[in-house]
Amino acid sequence: MPDNKSELKALKATKYTSTVRASSAFDQLRASCYRAGLRILDLTDRLRGRDHELLPPRRYRRFIGNGDFLKVGRQITDYMQEELGVGPSHDVLDAGCGAGRIAVPLTDVLGEKGSYLGFDIVPHAIDWCSSAITARHPNFRFEHVDIRQEIYNPDGKLSAADFRFPAEDSAFDVVAMVGLISHLLPPELDNYLTEAARVLRPGGQCFATAYLVDDKVAENIAQGRTAFTFTNDHGEYYVHSKEEPTYAIAYRVEYLREAAARYGLHLRREPKPGTWGTSTERPASMDLLILERD
Ligand SMILES: C[S@@+](CC[C@H](N)C(=O)[O-])C[C@H]1O[C@@H](n2cnc3c(N)ncnc32)[C@H](O)[C@@H]1O
Repeated sequence: MPDNKSELKALKATKYTSTVRASSAFDQLRASCYRAGLRILDLTDRLRGRDHELLPPRRYRRFIGNGDFLKVGRQITDYMQEELGVGPSHDVLDAGCGAGRIAVPLTDVLGEKGSYLGFDIVPHAIDWCSSAITARHPNFRFEHVDIRQEIYNPDGKLSAADFRFPAEDSAFDVVAMVGLISHLLPPELDNYLTEAARVLRPGGQCFATAYLVDDKVAENIAQGRTAFTFTNDHGEYYVHSKEEPTYAIAYRVEYLREAAARYGLHLRREPKPGTWGTSTERPASMDLLILERD
């Protein structure tokens, strides 16, 4: 598996596609070349008729991860339909919505009586979602929230530890946090769980992906048998990179269970394990969890 250094290099190249804060002239140049390359690939797709009106440009797709944007989004929303019963009249809040990977397939699921609100800290992604998705589906809305985060929004003004979701109490049936918990440190996670519980209706569900550590996975981490190294052990959580801790954070499952319970959310059933904790192979999937509002 790649070592931390080469991985961070790749991460930084991607980072410049969302927020440009390159540290040297060489980094600036590298970031510009990277973006130019992505634009050329987008143009090639358009010329070959391989684009899709709801497929964001590569520079907005890349920063949320690898994989087929439309296919992965569809797999996630199929799961939400099957396991959470998401249907046409539901109200869905998507915290950390990125470039709309879930929003796009949800446009086929949520009807006129349903609604979707996504928020994220990367302004360009939100602008794209508003112009491409809201313009065609007015019951889908997107908000930029200026939260500071080392990788995605280093100059942000707000803190995730006391941020209030842009929503009324008990306004949603479902809160999604896909690929988000792994970027939240404990005080931030606590706040996001509090906020999820606040905006959910009683019986509403929070669907999240996370890196969850039980005793077996802890042993695998210690022996280098996981897809992310997570060698920095902080007790209830582990970080993959000391330099950029919010790049990838794994949580002890008991910590998450207890934190959620404090705020009125309980695990509906045991989390569904992904592949990351039992194999070094990449790409690796995260664990899936469903929390229900008491
Ligand atoms: C791995 S991406 C996943 C995006 C999207 N949920 C998806 O599945 O395509 C993580 C997203 O979380 C956003 N993010 C990171 N920290 C955040 C925070 N404190 N609040 C809201 N969004 C955040 C990032 O900007 C990024 O879009």
